[in-house]
Amino acid sequence: MTPPPDHPGAGPAAVPPPGCPAHTAPRTGAHPDDRAATTRTDALADLFGPEHEADPTGFYERLRAEHGPVAPVRLAGDLPAWLLLGYRENLEVARTPSRFSRDSRHWGDWREGRVAPDSPLLPVVGWQPMCTFADGEEHERLRTALTQSMNRFDRRGIRRHVTRFTHQLVGEFAADGHADLVTGFAERLPMLVLTHLLGMPDEDGPRLVEASRDLIKGTETAISSNEYVTRTLENLVARKRAQPGEDLASWLLSHPSGLTGEEVVQHLRLVLLTGNETTTNLMANTLRTVLTDPRSRASLAGGHMTLPDAIEHVLWDEPPLAVIPGRWATGDTELAGRRIRAGDMLLLGLAAGNVDPAIRPDITAPMYGNRSHLAFSGGPHECPGQDIGRAITDTGIDALLLRLPDLRLAVPESELRWTASWVSRHLVSLPAEFTPRRGDWDTLETERGLLGPDFLDRIASAQDPLEPRAEVTGPEPAAPRPWWRSLWRALRPGPPRPPR
Ligand code: HEM
Repeated sequence: MTPPPDHPGAGPAAVPPPGCPAHTAPRTGAHPDDRAATTRTDALADLFGPEHEADPTGFYERLRAEHGPVAPVRLAGDLPAWLLLGYRENLEVARTPSRFSRDSRHWGDWREGRVAPDSPLLPVVGWQPMCTFADGEEHERLRTALTQSMNRFDRRGIRRHVTRFTHQLVGEFAADGHADLVTGFAERLPMLVLTHLLGMPDEDGPRLVEASRDLIKGTETAISSNEYVTRTLENLVARKRAQPGEDLASWLLSHPSGLTGEEVVQHLRLVLLTGNETTTNLMANTLRTVLTDPRSRASLAGGHMTLPDAIEHVLWDEPPLAVIPGRWATGDTELAGRRIRAGDMLLLGLAAGNVDPAIRPDITAPMYGNRSHLAFSGGPHECPGQDIGRAITDTGIDALLLRLPDLRLAVPESELRWTASWVSRHLVSLPAEFTPRRGDWDTLETERGLLGPDFLDRIASAQDPLEPRAEVTGPEPAAPRPWWRSLWRALRPGPPRPPR
């Protein structure tokens, strides 16, 4: 983290600053500003550690019951913050950068020297020269470079890469008749696609997956993992400067916004980290839903619901990023009756906001196809890569189900396990089984021959998540089954052969 220019570099302050959430009351439901705490954050609920990790949803609901839509919490290193649990409060903060800045140099605890230099929060919230930490014109300059460069990708090309990498991964386990769809598929596909889009050699993918997951978890090794990711990207940028190609690294380097080398590295890192972890989670959660929820499986098979609709439902109930750190109050202000002081950190609680009873009184009502969830946040920083994330998830799962149509869960649902960090929850494994199929491309090539040379293109474009689509505010009517799926079923050769 680059210290703010006026960072005093002082050690931990003896007296907590007035107004930070640390001054909150014990969990009695009283207004936190009405009482003085004896220690900084003793009375606050921990947004890390066993209680939160065992059941993040229950944790949010307990906080909502005790504090309402804006709750005081404690982060690793005894650092206080406000967690936003209300849907409207999340949007208000995300959409009002004049009051709630994305620039972490406003952070009172940092400015006053209470954040340890080796704090595991720093790789995530430490200020860096990239659009995530900028507001106003500077944000516009950096974000424009990023979005315009990302828009240069041939959209059909992205889907073709997803299809190709999906078949490459499925080929590794198709003959076994069983696979772990998290470690063998969801954790690998997004990084393969993203490293390719960035311009990296494919073999860099696996180590980067490991390092980026470690970094985002905020563990003790987060800092060294962060250094590894940054070093790999610096090498990439040096190579692309000498020899540009058709990739994000080269396009950012040549963009008229004139990004510095460090800015290019940081934005590539941003795309890699945000894009990989989120898309992995979305893919794992969608696969789990498809394999365990008879309602969604039946709706998909019967053509009453499309995969993109199922994905939106998952984005409501299990947003890939549960919490976004953060926003920082630019001055003293008020939010849902809470007094927020200048420099306080606020965390967007996307998972909690999505199930806010104020907007979802019936939590069991399906949200298929409804895009007004918080999973991609809102306001000027709303995720610019959301359609790429959706395309990887949708095209990847579609191609997987096409290749292994009788895919089913291999263990009871109750045996599935998650790991949680303060920002996200991650399915550890999703054991699945299916009729063994040949791992090579023969079967697929036969189908390709039957259906014509542009078969894969048509698979990839049958449901185009990258095309603009009208926003809906309620459950969507049943969508027709993609044409190719019934055609493919009709022409499919007989029962799959066991491997030789
Ligand atoms: C489906 C998976 C994804 C989810 C759920 C997701 C979610 C998010 C969220 C919640 C934010 C934070 C916005 C804020 O601070 O308010 C964000 C920012 C961002 N995401 Fe995504 N994302 C996904 C995929 C991707 C992909 C695939 C890319 C790139 C190819 C990407 C690039 C970015 C960038 C560059 C930002 C920073 C934008 C800014 O600060 O202006 N994301 N994303």
